[in-house]
Amino acid sequence: MAQDFLKQVLYTNEQIVNRCEELGSELSKIYEDKNPLIIGLLKGSVPFLAELIKHITVDMEIDFMDVSSYGDGTTSSGNVKIVKDLDISVTGRDIIIAEDIIDTGRTLKVVKELLLNRGAASVKVVCLLDKKERREALIEADIVGFTIPNEFVIGFGLDYAQKYRNLPYIGVLKEECYK
Ligand code: IMP
Ligand code: MG
Repeated sequence: MAQDFLKQVLYTNEQIVNRCEELGSELSKIYEDKNPLIIGLLKGSVPFLAELIKHITVDMEIDFMDVSSYGDGTTSSGNVKIVKDLDISVTGRDIIIAEDIIDTGRTLKVVKELLLNRGAASVKVVCLLDKKERREALIEADIVGFTIPNEFVIGFGLDYAQKYRNLPYIGVLKEECYK
């Protein structure tokens, strides 16, 4: 393979775009006659959110939040700190959290509870990738793009040490690159 960091391409850009189209129309049905607020968790969700909203046909707004969870390079710890908070109030709003990947689920569980505590009317989670077998926190996404095996993936927003977010596809990082 031309790229020496890549073990395998999991999803091509075309596959991702097609799946986002399906997710977008599913969300458009669920939120018909509503005005959902889509919250992207920085930074990994940006390419996914940008693609997804092109396929949503109902009125909607977007906002971003940056939470950091302390951990080593490849896993999160559940100690979540808000680095950048929302601009728009969530009180009474129907929220869709857009996330790049759910791994242990710890980050998402904290964010979902926070939004409900702030008075959100409803909170659903849409994620591009789901590493189901790694789940530790009691949380599931309402809508999942692709369920993937327990491998470290990069691209389409997903990073390793802030690198590779710009890849237009999703690939598996070679183990020798992070071990
Ligand atoms: P969780 O709290 O363990 O679910 O952590 C989710 C976050 O960990 C994601 O938003 C990513 O930032 C990061 N993450 C988990 N797995 C991967 C991966 O395979 N590649 C890149 N980032 C990952
Ligand atoms: Mg993330």
